[in-house]
Amino acid sequence: MSEMKELRDIFTEYMRLNYISALLGWDQQVNMMGYKNVAGRSEQIALITKLIHKRLVSEKTGKIIKKAEKLNDLNDIDAAMLREAKRAYDQEIKLPEELVVEIQKTAALAQQTWQKARKNNDFKSFIPLLEKTVELQREKAQKLETHPDLYSTLIDLYEPGATYDWIANIFNPIKPKLINFVKKLNSASNKPDDSILNKEYDPDKQYELSYEILNKLNYDFEQGRQDRSTHPFTTSLGSLDVRITTRTTEPFPACITGTIHECGHALYEMGIMKDLHDTILCTGTSMGIHESQSRMWENVVGRSKEFWMYWYPTFQKYFPENLKDYPMEEFHRAINYVHPSFIRVEADEVTYGLHIILRFEIEKDLIDGNIQVKDLPEIWNSNFEELLGIIPPNDTEGVLQDVHWGSGYIGYFPTYFLGNLYCAQIYNKALEKMPNLSDDYKKGEFSNLLNYLRENIHQYGSIYRANDLIQRVSGEDLNSAYFMEYLEKKYYPIYGL
Ligand code: CO
Repeated sequence: MSEMKELRDIFTEYMRLNYISALLGWDQQVNMMGYKNVAGRSEQIALITKLIHKRLVSEKTGKIIKKAEKLNDLNDIDAAMLREAKRAYDQEIKLPEELVVEIQKTAALAQQTWQKARKNNDFKSFIPLLEKTVELQREKAQKLETHPDLYSTLIDLYEPGATYDWIANIFNPIKPKLINFVKKLNSASNKPDDSILNKEYDPDKQYELSYEILNKLNYDFEQGRQDRSTHPFTTSLGSLDVRITTRTTEPFPACITGTIHECGHALYEMGIMKDLHDTILCTGTSMGIHESQSRMWENVVGRSKEFWMYWYPTFQKYFPENLKDYPMEEFHRAINYVHPSFIRVEADEVTYGLHIILRFEIEKDLIDGNIQVKDLPEIWNSNFEELLGIIPPNDTEGVLQDVHWGSGYIGYFPTYFLGNLYCAQIYNKALEKMPNLSDDYKKGEFSNLLNYLRENIHQYGSIYRANDLIQRVSGEDLNSAYFMEYLEKKYYPIYGL
């Protein structure tokens, strides 16, 4: 099958060019933080993006895809390779260049405007560009037409195969359960006290400690590194070069949980089987599955009591001024304090889903034209009160808080919460196989879980779509019941309920 070989080669070059582009981006975010002007770098990235696009939409690529589509009896890997090649090709060829340029230009302007608007609590100034962004995203969805409805087409960009209806069927029933659960925890008489986390913790020591943890979690420093950046992220610069970043911001231990989160993303990419290296399948299969991995390490492992039984003495050594006489149990309760708050990225894992459901419902209405951009603050605040029982004091802490919409990312938000749900279902399966898994953590032993994830998730890269993957792992479709079970089992003891 020479067609498949040719296809594979074309997309290996495509991947390598993307790695080069990612390197430019990584370098900008890690090494150019203090630079006055990064316009030169932005131009370079724009140029390479253009070159990648041109190569991808070449006649040759189109022909090879057509030929490969006629082949019968493709094995799982080849079939997936063709599927992903076609997907990448379609996404580029269906969009007219003027539209792509317009989207890029608008995003650059909208981001600047959004930053100012957020700083000055001035939603009005953001309205024209956000309106334009929504219009451009609608146009994009019309051109791509992956699904009959526009919002599903946008969701599909980040969570291939997922639709609005499928997600709504999962989010709708869990919504009231989460609202009630938060209320129940809130009414407990003995709530955690998280004031210990607001003391001062030396940033350099936090950073040093984050390396100790990365080592124990089996992050491979021979195929990656950790640096500091304004926002933590993971990026693959090659199939054997998966880098992460963290930051030492408050409250404690955000640096550590951030490191663990990105480590989870990195372990996924580092665990992809050799056969897939440098192919278009050498990447996580969806944002939701990716997020399930990062959140499993961050929340399920990294906020478990067993994890802290092992790590707390080390933390006490690093920060004796704060922790020497502070009991581990109380610290563990502090980092698992659940309470409605305004900012999504600071939300605990229980209220987090409600922040996402809010955005999911608003995005759907925006794209369908059922609501107007100018009415967003009002809609945001009243829906927020319904979900979380509090009203943001201003738009900075409300509708203006996220970077996504201004950057043209509409349809991305739901993947975050899907991540929590996938995570609980996968972890439940791991527990069936290894009921005493958390005893490992008490000993600082994390390889049994990692091996389970490698075997069942990581090695496959993008061979299986999220839906198929969860079926293979658990024998059923995504089911939010596992997440609620996980929450109840974890939080009732913490809250003495
Ligand atoms: Co993440």
